[in-house]
Amino acid sequence: MITGAFQQLTPRSVGGIIQLGGTILHTSRCLEFETKRGIEKAAETLASNKIDGLVVIGGNGSFKGAQELSKHADASIIGVPASIDNDVYGTDETIGFDTAVNTAVTEIDKIRDTAISHERIFITEVMGRTRGFLASTVGLTVGAEIILVPEVKCDRSMVVGKLEENRAKGKRSAIIVAAEGIGDTRSLGAEIEKDTGTEVRLSVLGYAQRGGSPTARSRLLASMFAEKAVKLLLRGDGDSVVGLREGKIGRIDIQKSSSIEKPLDLSLLELANVLST
Ligand code: F6P
Repeated sequence: MITGAFQQLTPRSVGGIIQLGGTILHTSRCLEFETKRGIEKAAETLASNKIDGLVVIGGNGSFKGAQELSKHADASIIGVPASIDNDVYGTDETIGFDTAVNTAVTEIDKIRDTAISHERIFITEVMGRTRGFLASTVGLTVGAEIILVPEVKCDRSMVVGKLEENRAKGKRSAIIVAAEGIGDTRSLGAEIEKDTGTEVRLSVLGYAQRGGSPTARSRLLASMFAEKAVKLLLRGDGDSVVGLREGKIGRIDIQKSSSIEKPLDLSLLELANVLST
């Protein structure tokens, strides 16, 4: 939008991509779009190309940019939530979240084999710079003994207490799932090793969580979100974000979506704690 490098797409342009990770559009964060001049340039390009509808696929940052753009552009803007962080208000799930969860679960299941055989504690770090949606779902579904998320201050004595309690009950290994946003997981590991006397290893799952073939659930969500986005555009219902809520596809105002922080369901952490006792 800033440089006007448009390319006409047809239904054939998306043939054979449903199983691919990444993006055929090569979109990523754009620093220029974070400036007033960048937004103005984008609005000018939209106007000069007579573009009156825009579908923005992304997370919170993209929607904030979209909302800013809508102040300058005469176009209907629809947000389609796609982020492995699942941190978009107004939808229970974002496109890609389920794929990232499954990638992390597959890896951590393998890590548990070494944890058990070598009787070690593993800290497995998943993505989530500011939010713990990925860590909490992954943690619960791998049966993690401890889950650490940015929303809850890490209490090391609580972590060590639970690990020691587990050991007393005969559990000789443990998996801690930590969101990257909790801080320095390497130092945390060293401290836990010192406090418990048990070997601790850190495994940072990293960018593998951001790519790969989407799960069926992510594909289904993408298809349903896309249909809803087109319907909203056709009826001129701009400034909306599509979302999945209680099993139904709907919409909310983009302003609301980007200004409200999606709450993390802390009961998942409690359930994980009960199940891993
Ligand atoms: O897309 C969101 C996210 O995956 C975060 O969970 C992670 O912290 C961040 O992106 C990584 O971003 P970057 O590519 O800038 O390192």
